[in-house]
Amino acid sequence: MPKPRVLSGMRPTGKLHLGHLVGALDNWKQLQEDYDCFFFAADWHALTTEYQDTEIIQESIRDMMIDWLTVGLSPEKSVLFIQSRIKEHAELHLLLSMITPVPWLERVPSFKEQQRELTNRDLSTYGFLGYPLLQTADIIIYKAHKVPVGVDQVPHVELSREVARRFNFLYRPVFPEPDPLLTEVPKLLGIDGRKMSKSYDNAIFISDPPEEVRRKTSVMFTDPNRIKKSDPGNPDICNVFSFHKVYSSPETVSRVNRECRAATLGCVEDKRQLAETLVSYLAPIQEVRARYLKDPRLVEEILEEGCQRARRVAAQTMEEVRAAMKI
Ligand code: TRP
Repeated sequence: MPKPRVLSGMRPTGKLHLGHLVGALDNWKQLQEDYDCFFFAADWHALTTEYQDTEIIQESIRDMMIDWLTVGLSPEKSVLFIQSRIKEHAELHLLLSMITPVPWLERVPSFKEQQRELTNRDLSTYGFLGYPLLQTADIIIYKAHKVPVGVDQVPHVELSREVARRFNFLYRPVFPEPDPLLTEVPKLLGIDGRKMSKSYDNAIFISDPPEEVRRKTSVMFTDPNRIKKSDPGNPDICNVFSFHKVYSSPETVSRVNRECRAATLGCVEDKRQLAETLVSYLAPIQEVRARYLKDPRLVEEILEEGCQRARRVAAQTMEEVRAAMKI
């Protein structure tokens, strides 16, 4: 029995931070063991919102790929590639656009939400409306069974099920209907207590040097009700404690929990300890990172090989699609 196929993509919009790691990459890394995995940089997707400022996208692809490799995505276990190098995604997107009713796209929740939120650019474009359909093409062109995503992306995977079903009904069964693979992820907020995001300037990056990790950790928000060190703290509402739960040993977690509540461990010292834990967690990752940075050819070779493997699968699917549609 061949392993079921997993596919996921990430927009290249800058260096990766710890939120990406716990939110997606740690999970992808695990999936490599049991599935036939395809992971790619969704650079065309990035264009749907960053069309005015496109340089950042190309730079980010390499940065992001190096981050992927350093945290343990492996070219031996997974196919790692770049969306824009596989033109078949664009062809399938076009063909699917012929059979997809516009209201299916207009009712995807992220469409109205992002138009409302990203007010500094014009998102009334054709490409932005079609973005979830491009995502459908990304997924079904590899006949993926499972798509690991965060909750915000589930409606997109559902659209891909509907479109796959419609294609199979109109022509002939070519595509499996993909399922979202929702993963329970620990919640790590940014250093200011909001969602960790590059654009909020509150992220701890995988590539941050030790002094930067220490500086950022030292200004992290803790339990807002704990004003003096002698006030007992509540770890349940403390973001620093959430970090401990992900990165510290179980013994440290229970000690911090106890000492914070007893007001024997102050926030400053607690954050100092967390910073050292993060620094040692990142050290081996950054060592590997430095090796890849020194050898850009190696990264390019890995990507070239990944793109070739992806292209073979995509091209095969497109043959079936053209035959099914008689074109
Ligand atoms: N839309 C996803 C995001 O913004 C990225 C993405 C593009 C994706 N194509 C995909 C995710 C296919 C999963 C499967 O995060």
